[in-house]
Amino acid sequence: MKGKKPTRETNSTLLKQAMLRRLPRRLAARGDLMIASVPGLLDHYQQMLLSIFAALGRVFNDPEKQHLRTVLETWLKKGWDESPYTRLVVHFETDAPPKTTISYKVALNVVTIADEYGHWVKTRTPPLFGAHPDSKVMDLARSLGNPADVRVLDVGAGTGRNTIPLAREGFQADAVELAPALAQVLRDDVEKAGLKIRVFEGDVIDPLLEVPKEHYDMIFLAEVVASHFRDIDHLRKLFTALTGMLRPGGTLLFSAFQPGDGYKPDQLARELGEVFWCVIFTRSDFEQAFQGLPFDKVSDESTLEYERERLPKEHWPPTGWFEQWSSGGDLFDLPLGRAPVELRWLAYKKRG
Ligand SMILES: C[S@@+](CC[C@H](N)C(=O)[O-])C[C@H]1O[C@@H](n2cnc3c(N)ncnc32)[C@H](O)[C@@H]1O
Repeated sequence: MKGKKPTRETNSTLLKQAMLRRLPRRLAARGDLMIASVPGLLDHYQQMLLSIFAALGRVFNDPEKQHLRTVLETWLKKGWDESPYTRLVVHFETDAPPKTTISYKVALNVVTIADEYGHWVKTRTPPLFGAHPDSKVMDLARSLGNPADVRVLDVGAGTGRNTIPLAREGFQADAVELAPALAQVLRDDVEKAGLKIRVFEGDVIDPLLEVPKEHYDMIFLAEVVASHFRDIDHLRKLFTALTGMLRPGGTLLFSAFQPGDGYKPDQLARELGEVFWCVIFTRSDFEQAFQGLPFDKVSDESTLEYERERLPKEHWPPTGWFEQWSSGGDLFDLPLGRAPVELRWLAYKKRG
């Protein structure tokens, strides 16, 4: 039996849709999408790319969706292992007509801490981290006695916002700085000011860095753990290295983002914290990182409150970004004070 002859479609809505379905043959597109290399965003990125491709008339079937997922998963992990500042570059390009498919490939744009700060030095107007030293740093150093007898080490010193005022006040101040561009600014300023600060350029956890052993009365890291330390293992390496540099009875001070009561950061919050320089460590993370090391905690206080109460009015806020950043607002887009984390000053004493 012969098939029934189809009737011709005349419904204008259906006909319009039928013509639009042919449009991908006449549409060409290509582009590069740069995305933060965060493994926890795999679902989000897969969906985002499927939507972009679908908007170009390239709708993926299940095996194509799975392939995209596998490719993304592999590259996100590779990028994350490089650094949280590394980007995935997804290049996509429609295939030549009459095909209505799309081809894509993924590459890494590896970015290090040194690259990030190299860019800051080239593009931002100094002072990069504020014009005034931290009140907590100065107060603690002053509490240790006659400046001429007190040796302090500023780790992750940046351009010396704290190191230089300490040295000017007579403390024996030294600095460790990882980013060559910042270390250079610091060395130039030290020379101009005729100060005796030694600048050790490199990663503080590198055992080859020639920092004197058991030498310092106070070691501090302002905005360093909070911005750039990656996990408990990284912290442990840091504290182990600092144990060797601090004299018995010496004090360690650093600022770090901690969750408030009732908030437990999940893996995605921790990963995005690294991306937004707002790395979250819980109290239990610190306990683990310090386990077996000769430190006792001596204080734990809100950095924002401490500094706001004590910095001279004309130096508040220290930078345009400080209040939002220190309140967790760079990670959570919420009104000031609503984020579940905040920057805190944590101080520890090395047992004598
Ligand atoms: C946000 S900046 C703060 C600079 C300075 N402490 C201040 O508060 O003005 C963080 C600094 O830590 C440095 N840094 C990060 N990780 C480091 C490491 N492992 N060793 C030494 N310096 C490091 C960075 O290069 C950068 O200068």
